[in-house]
Amino acid sequence: MTSQPTPTADPIPAEDTNWWRSAVVYQIYPRSFADHNGDGTGDVRGMIDRLPHLAELGVDAIWVSPWYPSPLADGGYDVADYRDIHPDFGTLEDADAFIARAHELGLRVLIDLVPNHCSDEHPWFQAALAAGPGTPERELFWFRDGRGVDGELPPNDWQAMFGGPAWERVIGPDGRGEQWYLHLFDVRQPDWNWAQPAVADEFDDILRFWFDRGIDGFRIDVADSMAKDPDLPDVAHGTSNLTKSVGSPLWDRPELDVIHRRWRAVADEYADSPQGARVFVSEAVLPAARVAHYVTPERLHTTFNFDALLCEWTAQSQRHMIQLSLQVHDAVGAPCTWVLSNHDRVRVATRYGKPITGVAYGPEGGSREFTPLEEEEIRAMPTDVALGLKRARAAALLELALPGGAYVYQGDELGLDEVDDLPEESLQDPTWERSGHTVHGRDGCRVPIPWSGTTSPFGFGPGGEPWLPMPARWAGQTVADQEHDPTSHLALYRAALAERKRNPALGDGTLSWVASDAHVLDFTREPGFRCIVNFGPDAVPIPADARVLIHSGDPNSGRVETDEAVWLAI
Ligand code: NOJ
Repeated sequence: MTSQPTPTADPIPAEDTNWWRSAVVYQIYPRSFADHNGDGTGDVRGMIDRLPHLAELGVDAIWVSPWYPSPLADGGYDVADYRDIHPDFGTLEDADAFIARAHELGLRVLIDLVPNHCSDEHPWFQAALAAGPGTPERELFWFRDGRGVDGELPPNDWQAMFGGPAWERVIGPDGRGEQWYLHLFDVRQPDWNWAQPAVADEFDDILRFWFDRGIDGFRIDVADSMAKDPDLPDVAHGTSNLTKSVGSPLWDRPELDVIHRRWRAVADEYADSPQGARVFVSEAVLPAARVAHYVTPERLHTTFNFDALLCEWTAQSQRHMIQLSLQVHDAVGAPCTWVLSNHDRVRVATRYGKPITGVAYGPEGGSREFTPLEEEEIRAMPTDVALGLKRARAAALLELALPGGAYVYQGDELGLDEVDDLPEESLQDPTWERSGHTVHGRDGCRVPIPWSGTTSPFGFGPGGEPWLPMPARWAGQTVADQEHDPTSHLALYRAALAERKRNPALGDGTLSWVASDAHVLDFTREPGFRCIVNFGPDAVPIPADARVLIHSGDPNSGRVETDEAVWLAI
């Protein structure tokens, strides 16, 4: 264990109802954060042990990825019981203790809601299988007869996000194939049928269950997917449903409006509670321009800005991306969020060290997202580790200086890189199997956090083989190694987050661009703040009358070198 610093944050201020407009939210992936009982898997007690790290880091809130009972076919996004905790992670009492301790430290708590699908082990899905065709139990999901002479073909041409068809045929007690069920993700994740009132009622109840336990809000998994065209038509002209084209029968449909508003009404019931109304952040991998209408005062509060995550590391693309993101959010009165990575994406320090760092952005938005196979090709390209880390430092200062809220994925505050050499037999992401071993998937960013020590498990737990192997090269990158080194990645994050707390120019608000070289982003925020990020080959001199607050490189250089950023008091 590292030393347990004294918390610096104040307890939750009840009157601060707009906290979410500026919040920096830290994502915990419970399986990989901290292992209290030494079984090699992270747990809620481990999360409690390490809460002081987050208070010291200076974030405002925590988002906990799914901690529910689950066969973990998709890392917990396959929920078998929405009102309990996975026994490997702990108990409901542990969750209560976590929420209470986080609040004592001034940290809000968001948890994951997975409303599009559940686990095939969920009792309602098991009941639907047992009840057979034509029963009300089956109506809660999308069961359909197959096409073909004997129903041997899937009901339509939709593809699953992890590869293969989005339909699985049920095998009856007589061993013969009967109906098919829809699963947009893994075969073990049947989609709920949100046209059924019982499904909507059940989720209202789940929201209240957790709000009553004190959580501050939910991150909504695939918030753009619950509504489907009831006719389940083929996607037009052989285009893949994975592209989420406008007018899709399964993505981003107008019927979502009713679902989102219904959730908002439940959250607003808590407006008079001591911690105020509860909030939602929508996860929908769509351009900001398409999801901005999700975040109005009647619908959800914020949405992940995936444009920030997908955008390549060039001044031109970043400027267009930032401009457009701010513009579409301003138009609906919502704050923007800035997201560099999460448990689904190649870690930022690795991504920015590749020859291809993302997609290009123009005034109209981003070019098309990479396909999983293209991502696999980029993954195979060499990584310049030092370059990636340098850019990740600059990107952190850029992200935290922009108007709105920001997200920090666990380990990004340490500058961890992607573990892209995991032994194939250790891979757990369903993508690996479903793609016929062509796409490695997302395990490389889910490796447990190194806290201390010089060998695996690096203080992740008291012993026990970590559920994914931890690379020997992380020696020297643990929290304990970094916390007293003023030049470390962790020190940069701590300094930036502390400045963000004390500087009234940062967080929610607006920015003004300063005319600059095409390879430089330069903007001010009122009162008295300026941020310069240099993407070009030539160093940018720091104005003589400005005082350096934080520099991603050498604060005494008087310059901003290539791939560096600086915060200035002006
Ligand atoms: C998005 C989550 O972030 C991802 O991990 C999960 O596999 C899918 N939604 C399906 O729930």
